[in-house]
Amino acid sequence: MTPQNLIDAEAFARRRLPKSIYDYYRSGAWDEISLGRNREAYGELELHPRVLVDVSKRDRSTTLLGTATSMPILAAPTAFHRLAHPDGEAATARALADLNTIMVLSSLSTTTVEEVTAAGGPVWFQLYANRDAAITRALVDRVVAAGCKAIMLTADTPVWGVRERDVRNGFHLPPGVGAANLANLDPEGEARSRQGSGMGQAFDWMLHPALSWKELESICAWSPVPVLLKGLCRGDDAARAIDSGCAGVVVSNHGGRQLDTVPATISVLPEVVEAVAGRGLVLVDGGVRRGTDVLKAIALGADAVQIGRPQLWGLACDGERGVRGIFEHLDHELDLAMALTGCPSLEAISADLVRRR
Ligand SMILES: Cc1cc2nc3c(=O)[nH]c(=O)nc-3n(C[C@H](O)[C@H](O)[C@H](O)COP(=O)(O)O)c2cc1C
Repeated sequence: MTPQNLIDAEAFARRRLPKSIYDYYRSGAWDEISLGRNREAYGELELHPRVLVDVSKRDRSTTLLGTATSMPILAAPTAFHRLAHPDGEAATARALADLNTIMVLSSLSTTTVEEVTAAGGPVWFQLYANRDAAITRALVDRVVAAGCKAIMLTADTPVWGVRERDVRNGFHLPPGVGAANLANLDPEGEARSRQGSGMGQAFDWMLHPALSWKELESICAWSPVPVLLKGLCRGDDAARAIDSGCAGVVVSNHGGRQLDTVPATISVLPEVVEAVAGRGLVLVDGGVRRGTDVLKAIALGADAVQIGRPQLWGLACDGERGVRGIFEHLDHELDLAMALTGCPSLEAISADLVRRR
């Protein structure tokens, strides 16, 4: 038996993973209301398909900040892939390279950036800015030298959200699994992350609670590659990100893992698209599980979507092959959704296809 879809894949992965790891991957903050809303909100949107359009040929390829991809579906940055599979991010990277779509590598990767870019696919790097600007800069220099084509700076994490399952499970990283790209930047901090406690306190050392717009402007100015700001849900913040020099934004609530009761990301996407007004890229993540979800996000103005947890479920089920299966399946569903709504290309996916129920 193999998973039939991305939702099935979670059930398969659950059977394979130790409870504390499954819980770490799946959980949301506090009452997990936003985690649920991210998904429910897609169901509240109805599709109004066009008929009698020639859809015999369909094209899902696109170019994002100069990076060509075969599909408008990226791997959202997710931490600690070696918890799911011994090959970790190297397996994920090989799967995505094979499909030619973008992997956004987490700052909390358990595999070095050099091993990930060696897979040959397009890679962007997710950055947690450090309190020490020199550490941030050294990390960016390293990942750009390794071949990362853009930086995705995460803004929704001045402190860690509380995932109560992790606290209850006393979750901590097992021996041999650590933040591979941070060890030599701050060995003391990295060592602290191994002390048994909830993940929150363990990685506190690498967050920057005073990160400001001024610092964002500075990072955009010195970064040799385009910078996207990830983790916002307001139009005014999105406009300010673009004014600060960002090449794009990612509408995200961290998969419901940071502040609970924030809105579903698909609900605030139109406000952000309006505020950005074509001046930068707009991506969205959170609860994307079906091809129709991808189509709805594009109809509402996103250039592409990211998926977080499903790549981990694929990795846990079958390593590189499992990750490839997840992306192939979602891409195939998008292809069908395009055919069934009368859209031969991504450009043809227009806002009138989607209405609130
Ligand atoms: C286990 C896990 C680890 C994550 N690690 C990071 C991270 O290191 N950096 C980051 O910016 N976002 C991180 N995220 C958030 C994802 O990038 C993304 O916003 C979210 O997973 C999208 O929602 P989805 O899982 O419903 O697709 C993580 C999410 C999960 C589930």
